[in-house]
Amino acid sequence: MPATIIVGAQWGDEGKGKVVDLLSEDIDIVARYQGGANAGHTVVIGEKEYVLHLIPSGIFHRRVSCVIGNGVVIDPIALMEEIATIKSFNIKIEGRLFISHNAHLIMPYHKLLDSIREQGANKIGTTGRGIGPAYIDKYMRTGIRVVDLLDRDVLCKKLKTNIEEKNQLLSKVYGSQELDVDKIISEYEEFDKKIDPYVTDTTAYLNNALQKKKNILAEGAQGALLDVDHGTYPYVTSSNPTSGGACTGLGIPPTAIRNIIGIVKAYTTRVGNGPFPTELTNETGEQLRKIGGEYGATTGRPRRCGWLDMVSLNYSIRVNGIREIALTKLDVLDSFDEIKICTAYNVGSKPLKSFPTDIQTLEKISPVYKTVKGWKEKISGVKKFKQLPKNAQKYIELIEKISGAKVSIVSVGARRDQTIMM
Ligand code: GDP
Ligand code: IMO
Ligand code: MG
Repeated sequence: MPATIIVGAQWGDEGKGKVVDLLSEDIDIVARYQGGANAGHTVVIGEKEYVLHLIPSGIFHRRVSCVIGNGVVIDPIALMEEIATIKSFNIKIEGRLFISHNAHLIMPYHKLLDSIREQGANKIGTTGRGIGPAYIDKYMRTGIRVVDLLDRDVLCKKLKTNIEEKNQLLSKVYGSQELDVDKIISEYEEFDKKIDPYVTDTTAYLNNALQKKKNILAEGAQGALLDVDHGTYPYVTSSNPTSGGACTGLGIPPTAIRNIIGIVKAYTTRVGNGPFPTELTNETGEQLRKIGGEYGATTGRPRRCGWLDMVSLNYSIRVNGIREIALTKLDVLDSFDEIKICTAYNVGSKPLKSFPTDIQTLEKISPVYKTVKGWKEKISGVKKFKQLPKNAQKYIELIEKISGAKVSIVSVGARRDQTIMM
């Protein structure tokens, strides 16, 4: 029963979109398992760049089916816009996109509450897409699901109860204006017909496909260090991007998982607040941002940049069970004389044995670096490992040695053909 999980191994934006699109060539189904439109997955085909937020990155392969699983929180407005954009590229979606009837919906009040909370004292630096508040309602068991959209009476009743409660919160706690119940109801009633052709029991669909030995790629959003359980809490997202999230977020069993590929950027980036041990706030960090085009695919925010951190990566490898690494954006390091790689953390003069996920400790650590020589050559046109400059080969081998995982894919540019299969 062959399913492979694609997981972001750092703080997101590792290049999951590119790798999922690339691997979809030999895949039957690509299925997103968590997160929402906070994700921005970029796929570059020829000279064209597409940014996907909810639709799986396999959509550009016409024989691939795409699933949005129960673990995803769906903003119907964002989804309909995305469907329309993809259709405008002459790509057929009907019969290829399957949306879980159990996925929860993001409502206008979730986005509003997200932005109000971000104005308070505990700023996470969210994407403002309503993710946290939508997952709160899911776990509070008051959430509205895709299936509810299909029944007007149920939708009206649930929306009314939810909005009345949110209005109390908005006016009494946040001193904000109340929402218009009827306006929201009439806006969302319209989605029933639009979404209906895509809605199905995706868990049954995926398990049937597994029985027929179809190949499934489970596409994670965000990254392991943003995981609500295993990341740098509270500076995380509100779901489980780690590989375990693929089973709960799709309803497929752990025994169906054949492989877990970790997407690793050749350096590190982070968007939003929270600890980032190898962050470079100097000219070098600026250079990484500029060369790597490190600006958020969803919000356009500049990404914080730093060297590759093997301590957090090794933690991520263990938590996810990563066996293979797809190393991306290696070309971004082409012009550096020297490249640093963090191999250990110290707190004061004491070395830390493992990656601490409590921010109090993380904020106190100082990274220990190994410095290696750069290759000072353009590598974007290289197709084979042996054709890479020796120092680039050594950098890859060093990552394999420290992590114990195999680098099976090296990405040297955003396009499909800028890839070395090892
Ligand atoms: P995702 O969220 O993990 O899918 O990653 P994003 O799409 O947010 O960010 C990755 C960015 O790097 C996108 O702009 C990609 O087009 C680009 N990219 C992906 N792989 C490579 C690569 O190997 N080299 C370079 N230079 N750019 C890449
Ligand atoms: P992809 O899938 C990078 C970050 C936000 C913020 C935190 C919480 O493109 O890798 P949220 O809106 O989820 O409540 O924000 O998580 N974040 C991401 N960072 N890439 C992403 O997605 C992200 N999605 C959320 O910046 O720090
Ligand atoms: Mg992204």
